[in-house]
Amino acid sequence: MKDAAPQPVRLSEYTPFPFVVEQVDLRFTLAGAETRVHSKVRFAPNPAAEPAGEIFLHGKELELISARIDGAEVSPVVTTRGLTCPVPSGAFTWEAEVRIDPTTNTSLDGLYTSGGMYCTQCEAEGFRKITFYPDRPDVMAPFRVQIDSDMPVRLSNGNMVEEGVWDDPWPKPAYLFALVAGDLRNFPGEFKTMSGKDVELNIWVRPGDEARAEYAMDALKRSMAWDEEVYGREYDLQIFNIVAVDDFNMGAMENKGLNIFNSKYVLASPETATDTDYDFIEGIIAHEYFHNWTGNRITCRDWFQLCLKEGLTVFRDQQFSSDMRGAAVKRITEVMQLRARQFREDQGPLAHPVRPEEYIEINNFYTATVYEKGAEVIHMLKALVGDEGYAKALDLYFERHDGDAATIEDWLKVFEDATGRDLSQFSRWYSQAGTPRLTVEEHFKDGTLTLDFKQETKPTPGQPQKQPQVIPIAVGLIGPNGNEVAETRVLEMNKSEQSFEFTGLSAKPVSSILRNFSAPVVLDRKLDSASRAFLLAHDTDPFNRWEAGRVLGKEVLTQMITEGTAPAPDLLTGLSRVVADESLEPAYRALMLGLPSEDDLAQTLFDSGHVPDPAAIHAARDALQDAMAAEMEPILASLYEQMETPAPYSPDAEAAGKRSLRGACLGLLSRRDGCARAKALFEAADNMTEELAALAVLIRHGQGEAAVQAFYDKWRHDRLVMDKWFMLQVVQSSPETMAETVKSLTEHADFDWKNPNRFRSVLGGMQANPAGFHRADGAAYRLYADWLLKLDPVNPQTTARMTTAFETWARYDADRQQMMREQLERIAALPGLSENTGEMVGRILG
Ligand code: TRP
Ligand code: ZN
Repeated sequence: MKDAAPQPVRLSEYTPFPFVVEQVDLRFTLAGAETRVHSKVRFAPNPAAEPAGEIFLHGKELELISARIDGAEVSPVVTTRGLTCPVPSGAFTWEAEVRIDPTTNTSLDGLYTSGGMYCTQCEAEGFRKITFYPDRPDVMAPFRVQIDSDMPVRLSNGNMVEEGVWDDPWPKPAYLFALVAGDLRNFPGEFKTMSGKDVELNIWVRPGDEARAEYAMDALKRSMAWDEEVYGREYDLQIFNIVAVDDFNMGAMENKGLNIFNSKYVLASPETATDTDYDFIEGIIAHEYFHNWTGNRITCRDWFQLCLKEGLTVFRDQQFSSDMRGAAVKRITEVMQLRARQFREDQGPLAHPVRPEEYIEINNFYTATVYEKGAEVIHMLKALVGDEGYAKALDLYFERHDGDAATIEDWLKVFEDATGRDLSQFSRWYSQAGTPRLTVEEHFKDGTLTLDFKQETKPTPGQPQKQPQVIPIAVGLIGPNGNEVAETRVLEMNKSEQSFEFTGLSAKPVSSILRNFSAPVVLDRKLDSASRAFLLAHDTDPFNRWEAGRVLGKEVLTQMITEGTAPAPDLLTGLSRVVADESLEPAYRALMLGLPSEDDLAQTLFDSGHVPDPAAIHAARDALQDAMAAEMEPILASLYEQMETPAPYSPDAEAAGKRSLRGACLGLLSRRDGCARAKALFEAADNMTEELAALAVLIRHGQGEAAVQAFYDKWRHDRLVMDKWFMLQVVQSSPETMAETVKSLTEHADFDWKNPNRFRSVLGGMQANPAGFHRADGAAYRLYADWLLKLDPVNPQTTARMTTAFETWARYDADRQQMMREQLERIAALPGLSENTGEMVGRILG
């Protein structure tokens, strides 16, 4: 029988589970295809729910061997989604044995094997592929786990009772369960908590990788100390384990006391990891560690509340990175990322609120909106209630909700109770999808500056009408001589149209609006390029100073594309001055040299009523970079020398900043020097950051053949480095031949397509080459879809995420639209298509 069409789950239909779980005991017998899981679960009626005469337990792809209630054998009704069984009226003990096969589990969800080790991934709903259980986050219980296996290292959550036996005293939902068994080596460490408890730390890796865990360990200790200092949060077990796994669907997972990581976010050495890798490792180690309080001790009532843990934990890891690496550079990178991923999502068919109201497959909602916009909402909350109000609210949150499965209402209530503020209108940030567009007009008269703001949010799927939101708008004023005449003030906009005044000004100032990106909105502001250049030279807010250059760059590029003009000199002279300014940190100057991405330009053109031509966008960026290189050659050349970092390599922010400025100079200079510097650097580099930067330039200018081969010969045995090798060839490929490059790389002996990192390097790399992806003959679309069709039966989660390459189809011309829709329809028609991919393709098609 064919399964019925998948039914959406709705927030409005939440009901509590009729039982509570008092204790879970699991015994695993790890024996390849014959793996057994024995479970013993103590249930009692839930006093907060209607009594029930039967129980439903989730279960997927399990072979039930035996089931008992209070020792007596029972015969539950089993379906593809779980089982139902009559139960006694009071407390009872459920016992079951199931057989599962981790060796053929390619979905990387549930219990699976990776490179000979056993590991698990249970968020969001993987535990039901391990045993029958109420697999929902509001069912929390203490777990005791016994692992029978000949593997030398056996790990689970909590504290170790004896070899292979673990006890986790903290009640947790099933999605935080984890188990690892393998031939692993550890990089050990220790941490003394603020109350003087010693915690044993371990990072577990494959033999030979031990030395590459040092940086992650250091980041972990810094994260633990930071959470004590800034949030007063202490670790709560005797041991904290991290495991690096090669086959992993996402970045990492916060399982209680046993974080599991994609190995690319743990392993680093100067020779094999770039500065960006180090940066990500630090941020993700912190993110998963911070989940111990925001996610684990306080979890989510249901998956609609996902942003409760993810938005807050992203916000916390951003604060941490900002403290570690410098606020301005961190904020700019965050906003670049937000615009590239979240604005793109919000402006297309996949737009959804930070707290969605229905889903078919929850794994499709681990999105930029839930994570990154979720963090921006907290950024705004903090701006509105102030640092002190925020600290009070967070203290109350931990005090009131420790041990709870909480909701967004609970979260907002602690802010209301701690600060006395009414947040009912603010809560629209959680329920309304779409990026508000903020327009502003300015008038100056008799020493008074008036700012007239309007906000508007376009309809999104399922939400035709939008209500005005609370928008904190940070504004400062710069006087004609370049000095700040009004310090940053946070204006609170809560109507569709609203005006604010600045009085007592002696001359007309230039206003700096939305400082530090105080709200996740598109600021639409008409300003002449001279005033933008003035802000680029003088704004005292580092974010807005960068933003001035960025907007100027965007305007110049838009004009080049739509009117065929030459690059405007304002921008070039403005940038030259900033880049040469030694009072600015190198990392910041490097960001100044970056231009808006091709994807960003496509969206901007579309928003202003043009049909974006990917090839023209690519050509204009290229031409502007040529012009920048010509204008700035002397300063770039001298910076290239100045920014050389001394051996030995150090991954710290200062040295990384110098390398990033040096890399930006190299990219531009290679347009003038025939790649001489890149060739020399490729030979001489003692670190992956520079080796890769040089290789990128060589490929980009069609001079990479020998270097590509040499790099391969040097690194072919290193999976993480080979991922970079694959990806770079796609990203730097000339757009005309990118599809052919991808095709030949997929035929390479080292293209292991079932490994998500490798798949994402090659196929995912196509998205970083938009002119290649949107090639007019549709060859890249077809190739991309071919591979999604191939991956879906093997790994639906990763396939579904990658369908977002097509989410922007509506921006483009009719031919491209039709070709993209054809591919989406071809995917939708695949017999046996996963619910994950089916839901995504359906939503993208609209
Ligand atoms: N909760 C994880 C995090 O934010 C991410 C996550 C969700 C995940 N689902 C996953 C990781 C599936 C791996 C696989 O850190
Ligand atoms: Zn997270």
